[in-house]
Amino acid sequence: MSDSLQSIRGMNDILPSQTPRWQAVEAIARRIFEAYGYEEIRMPLLENTALFSRAIGEVTDIVEKEMYTFLDRNGDSLTLRPEGTAGCVRAGLSHGLLHNQTPRLWYSGAMFRHERPQKGRYRQFHQIGAEAFGMVGPDIDAEMILLSARLLKALGIGAVRLQLNSLGTQAARTAFREVLADYFRQHESVLDEDSRRRLDSNPLRILDSKHPVVQDLIAAAPVLPDHLDEESREHFGRLCELLTVAGIEFTLNPRLVRGLDYYSRTVFEWTTDRLGAQDAVCSGGRYDGLVEMLGGRPTPAVGWALGMERVVALMEDAGVAAPDTAPHVFFVAAGEEAGAQSVRIAEYLRNRLPGLRLLLNCGGGSLKSQMKRADRSGASVALILGDHECNESTLALKALREDVAQEAVKQDSIVDALLARFGEALL
Ligand code: HAM
Repeated sequence: MSDSLQSIRGMNDILPSQTPRWQAVEAIARRIFEAYGYEEIRMPLLENTALFSRAIGEVTDIVEKEMYTFLDRNGDSLTLRPEGTAGCVRAGLSHGLLHNQTPRLWYSGAMFRHERPQKGRYRQFHQIGAEAFGMVGPDIDAEMILLSARLLKALGIGAVRLQLNSLGTQAARTAFREVLADYFRQHESVLDEDSRRRLDSNPLRILDSKHPVVQDLIAAAPVLPDHLDEESREHFGRLCELLTVAGIEFTLNPRLVRGLDYYSRTVFEWTTDRLGAQDAVCSGGRYDGLVEMLGGRPTPAVGWALGMERVVALMEDAGVAAPDTAPHVFFVAAGEEAGAQSVRIAEYLRNRLPGLRLLLNCGGGSLKSQMKRADRSGASVALILGDHECNESTLALKALREDVAQEAVKQDSIVDALLARFGEALL
C-alpha cells in the first residue's frame, strides 16, 4: 500500500476482534449512567478554535502544541476537539440547559491530540465523560467519584488508585501562582525553555514539565494545600469525609494539578502502574469558573473523563473475558432448492428468535467448503439443508465444537431444538 493510504500515526482502527470489548464497556457505562440519572449528550467533533484555547487555557500543552487546528473553506479557524468538557459547556449554553437547572450529562466519543504516540497514548483516542452543572457542594464531587469507582469496578479493573487534591478557588490559585513564580524565578537559570516562558504567563504549568532538572525543582516546590482558602479547605475536608464514609480509598496528592487551566477546587485522577508512562485512567475535577468564562452565568460544575483505550488495555491485562459474540448457528445450504429454502428458514428463525446469532452461507460452494466456513465462523452448530432434508422437511443439526453425532430435526421443531440448546437468551 502506498504511504498516503496508510492510517495516520496514532490513529487506530478498532477491529471486529476488539469491538465486542468496546461495546461491553459502552453498555456497562450507559447502564451505570442511567442508574445515577445522567443523560447522554452528543457534541460535534469540530468546534471554533477559540472555544478550546479559552476553556483549556492558551498556555497549556494541549493548546500550545497538541490541537488539530485548520482553516475551513470559509477561512474560519476550527479545531478537532481535544476533550469534551469545553464542547459540553458550549452546548449547554447554546441550548439553555445550564440556567437554573442542574443537568447531569454524559458523552462518549473520539478526541484528538497531536501527542507523541506510545502505549496508551494516541492522537485519536476515545473518552467516556460525565459533567454535572449547577451544584456547589461536595456531595456532587463525591457522587462523580463514586460513579467512576463503580464503573471501573464493574469493568473488572482493580489495579487503580484514586489520587485527590484541591486547587482552591480561582483567587487562591492566582495568589498561589505568584508564590510559585517567585520560587521558580530563584532557579530561572536551570529552567528549560518552555518553563522559563511560562514563568510569567502561567507558572502553574511549569508543574507539567517532564524536564529532569525541573522535575527536581518541582519536587521541592511549594504545594497548593498550604495555600488553600478556608472555603475550599472545608469543601475538600467534607469531600474526603464523604468518600471515607462510602468506603472509597484515596491518596492525597498535593502535586496533582492537572494539565487544563479550567479546574478549581477538587481535582482527582484514577491512576495505574500497569500502562507504563501513561498512568491516568480516569481524571477530572471541579471547574466552577468555566461556564461564566464562556459567557454564561456563574455556574459551578464538576466532571471527569476516562480513556477508553487505557480502560480496554487494563481489562485485557486483568484477564477480563471479552463477551462471546460468535454465531450460534451457521446455516449451510447445498443445492439450488436448498439455497432458496435456507433464506426463508433463516428469516423465519430471526423472526422467532431475536437473540439468535445466525450466519447464513452466501456465495454457494460445496458442502465441504461451506462446512469449513462454518467451522471458521466460530459458530457452535451448523444447520444443514440439502436435497434430502428439503424432501423430508428436516434440517440436519451438527454440533461443531463437540464430538456428537449429527441429528435430523423436523423443520417445524427447529425453534424448540435451538431453544433447548441455547436457552432463553435467544428470545
Ligand atoms: P484529561 O486528563 O486530559 O481530562 O483526559 C481524560 C482521560 O483521557 C485521561 O485520564 C486519559 O485516560 C485519557 N487520555 C488523555 N489523553 C489521551 C491520549 N492521548 N491517548 C489516550 N488516552 C488519553 C480531560 O479531557 C477533561 N475534559 C476531563 C474532565 C471532564 N474534567 C472535567 N470534566
